Amino acid sequence: MSDALDYLLKARPEALGHYFAFLKDAGKHLDPKTKNLISVITKVHSQTERGLHQYLRRALREGCTAVEVLDALLMAFPALGLAKIIWAVDVILEMKLPEFQPQALTSLSAAPAAGQWHFAAATKDLKDGETLRTECDGRGLFVYRQKTSYRVYDSRCPHQSTDIPELALKGSTLTCPKHRWAFDVKSGDCIRLGNTPLQRIESKVVKGRLMAFW
Ligand code: FES
Repeated sequence: MSDALDYLLKARPEALGHYFAFLKDAGKHLDPKTKNLISVITKVHSQTERGLHQYLRRALREGCTAVEVLDALLMAFPALGLAKIIWAVDVILEMKLPEFQPQALTSLSAAPAAGQWHFAAATKDLKDGETLRTECDGRGLFVYRQKTSYRVYDSRCPHQSTDIPELALKGSTLTCPKHRWAFDVKSGDCIRLGNTPLQRIESKVVKGRLMAFW
């Protein structure tokens, strides 16, 4: 939130409260990834750099890929125009996010667009409040459970793709052995040294089976 909005919220909580309630209600049927992607577009439209940083990181944390962000920007061309799209790409490149490095983009663009569901774990093997490191169809995953909600992350570090081992987990903190970036598995946020969250993978539970999509 900007300092000005923060100030207004304190100065006129009754008035601003309606605005935030409206925003919350307006997106209640959208999944977090879509919601944050739309917010990215609105921040590009208003050319709010800080907001773009904030919502781009959230979108990535919710499992959005770099090519999806670029597709969203290009699809919004009729509203944004080329100048704002170029502005956004400049801002994104300055953030030096590994997902947007040319090499990462090439492999993502070459990957098939449609993924599939993979069996990640049986929910009975996941304890509330704990994190499991597992291998699933050749991909390492960390799975965090909180009651009936699950968060699945790629085990590769968002810094330089080190495959983070199970031993790197202490409580809810995951520390990459290579350069010591640390992550909170409850949110996926990077909490030490770095600035990029773990890559979240879409998941769902079907009859006691946690399925992950990529
Ligand atoms: S590769 Fe993980 S912190 Fe650098």
